[in-house]
Amino acid sequence: MHKQPAHNACYTKLSEIIQANRHIDGPLIQVLHQAQELFGYIPTEVQQFVAQEMEIPPSTVRGVVTFYNFFRTEPQGQHTINICLGTACHVKGAQRIVDVLVDELGIHVGETTADGRFTLTAVRCVGACGLAPVMMIDDEVYGKLDREKVREALQRYAA
Ligand code: FES
Repeated sequence: MHKQPAHNACYTKLSEIIQANRHIDGPLIQVLHQAQELFGYIPTEVQQFVAQEMEIPPSTVRGVVTFYNFFRTEPQGQHTINICLGTACHVKGAQRIVDVLVDELGIHVGETTADGRFTLTAVRCVGACGLAPVMMIDDEVYGKLDREKVREALQRYAA
């Protein structure tokens, strides 16, 4: 069950955006981008609001939100961990690092920790293959990872 995502002012603004986009071609993606900017993510409540305001089926909105991976249906954590699953990292044991992260954080890829500190996502190559296996936390690259290095990196963001 999702929490109520935001203030009513965001819904008012979203309603204005929908009205303004109503008559252009293919407005749904545009509207959803703006919805994500307003709320930070697009939970079920917001999807339903968009469907109702645009007079389209909720399943259409849900379909678009889930098809494009730049749309998020869960709140984003304070820090984003991008574990690289590109070829070089895969060969150097990226899956083991995923397992360490899952162990340490208690969440799976695509989820956010209950305290809202970390969101764990996977990417394909961050351009630091020489340091494989690699993860990024926000804009910081951490390479040649093992369990200890993952722990040390996470501790930096613990405060
Ligand atoms: S494959 Fe992981 S950084 Fe390139």
